[in-house]
Amino acid sequence: DPSLPAAVRIGLDEVGDHIKLRKLDDTESKGTRVRVFGRVHRERKQKDVMFVTLRDGYGFMQVVISGQLAKTYDAVTLTRETSMEILGEMREVPAGARAPLNRELHADFFKIPKHWKAPGGDDAITNRVQADAEQAMLLDQRHLTLRGEVASGVMIVRDAVEWAFNQAYKELRFRKVSPPALVQTQVEGGATLFKFDYYGEDAFLTQSSQLYLETCLPSMGHVYCIEKSFRAEKSLTRRHLSEFTHVEAELDFITFDDLLSHIEHIMCRVLEIVMADPVVADKIKTMNPDFKLPERPFMRMKYSEAIDWLVKHDIPNEEGQPHAFGDDIAEAAERRMTDIINRPIFLTHFPAEIKSFYMSKAPEDARVTESVDCLMPGVGEIVGGSMRMDDYEELMAAYKREGIDPEAYYWYTDQRKYGSSPHGGYGLGLERFLAWLCKQHTVRDCCLYPRYMHRCKP
Ligand code: 4AD
Repeated sequence: DPSLPAAVRIGLDEVGDHIKLRKLDDTESKGTRVRVFGRVHRERKQKDVMFVTLRDGYGFMQVVISGQLAKTYDAVTLTRETSMEILGEMREVPAGARAPLNRELHADFFKIPKHWKAPGGDDAITNRVQADAEQAMLLDQRHLTLRGEVASGVMIVRDAVEWAFNQAYKELRFRKVSPPALVQTQVEGGATLFKFDYYGEDAFLTQSSQLYLETCLPSMGHVYCIEKSFRAEKSLTRRHLSEFTHVEAELDFITFDDLLSHIEHIMCRVLEIVMADPVVADKIKTMNPDFKLPERPFMRMKYSEAIDWLVKHDIPNEEGQPHAFGDDIAEAAERRMTDIINRPIFLTHFPAEIKSFYMSKAPEDARVTESVDCLMPGVGEIVGGSMRMDDYEELMAAYKREGIDPEAYYWYTDQRKYGSSPHGGYGLGLERFLAWLCKQHTVRDCCLYPRYMHRCKP
C-alpha cells in the first residue's frame, strides 16, 4: 500500500519537525500517522488497554493498543523483546500522564511475524537476565543484558566519546594512523605479554601502539590512534582488562609542560563535545547525576609530593608500611588519595626504576622521569604518558638496564639516529575514561564484550 507512511526511527525522526503532533482533544484533525519497528521493552495491561514501551536503539516510545486490537491473540500473549511493526497516530499524552517525549503512538494496526516472537515462560528474557544474578552469569548473557538501559546507555556514550576524540584531534590537526596489533616488541614489560606462534616465530599482541606512533612523527607531525591494546593481566580488578581500547597520541618538538597542557585540553574538549549532544548528555546525567565538567587547570602533584601526602594521611603501601620514595603507588592507595582530593590530578615525575624503559629523565633531577599519570576520582589512573628518551646512547643503556635485546627494536632505535627530536605522548584507557564519566563500578561494563582473566566469551 503506497499510502502507508515510511517507517520512522523512534529517537530521531520522531523528534524532528516532520511528524507534527496534534492534541488529543483536537477532534477536527487526526494525529500524524506513523509506522515504527522495534522490540517490546516493557508491557503492561490496564483494563482493556495495553501500554507497550517500544525500543529501537534510537529511543523509546509508548504505544497504546486498545479496543479490538488489544483482544487479539498476539496482543494477549505479547512477551518482552518480541519484535513488532506498528502503525498508528502520534499524539500528545493526556494531561497528567507521562511517556518518553510526552507522546504516544495510538496503534491501529500491528504485525508480529511468527519468528519475531520472543519466548515467554521459563525461557523469557526476564528469566535469563535477572538483575540480582551473579556477575559471571550476567556476563555469560552479555548479548542479552546489552539490551538494558544502563548497558546500552554506556555503549551509546562510548560511541559519542570515540567520535569526540576524533573530532578533538582533527581540530588540532593530528593525523590518525593504524599501527599493527601483531608485534615482536614489548612496551610495558614482559609480565603482561600475550605471546603466540607467528609462522614459527615468537610474536605478541601489542601492549601499546606508542613505539609505532613515534616512528610517524618525522613525516606526519602529531599523530594519534584508537586501537586495541592487550595485556595478560593476571589479576581480577575492576579496572584491568585483557583487551582494551587505547587512545594514544604522540607529539613532536614539545616540552613536558606542553604535553601536560595538551592532555588536559584533549580530555576537556572531548567532554565538551560529548555534553553538547543532548541525547548523550541526558544518558550521562542519568547514570552520573553529579557529573560536572572538570575544572582547569588540573591539579599537578609530583610523585615525591604524593609520597609525602600518603604518609601524612596514614595510607600505607602494599606491605602495610608507610610509603617511601621508590615505592610503586598501588591501586588501592592511589584510589584513596584521588577520592579524598576529589578532582583530576596529574601525578608527575615518577622514579625511573618503577617506570618504562623509554621515559626520559627530568633535566633537574636524574632520579625521576618526565612522566605523568592522570588520576580521576572513582577510578584512579586513566592516562599514562611521558617524554621519550631522544638520545641514542641513553636509549641503548636503557635497553641494557631492562634486559631488553635491542635487536628487535632496531626500527625504534633508528628514530634517534636519523633526526631525533624532543617528543612525548600518552595513552588513555577508553574504558576507564567511560567508567569515570558514566560512574560505572568496573571497566567491564564499559566494553561491548569484556575480556579479562578466564573470560573470552561470548
Ligand atoms: O600506563 P600505560 O601502561 O601506558 C602505556 O601503555 C603507554 N605506552 C601509552 C603511551 O604513552 N602511548 O597505559 C595507558 C593507559 C592507562 O592509564 C589505562 O587507562 C589504560 O591505558 N590501561 C588499561 N585499561 C584497561 N585494562 C588494562 N589492563 C590497562 N592497562 C592500561
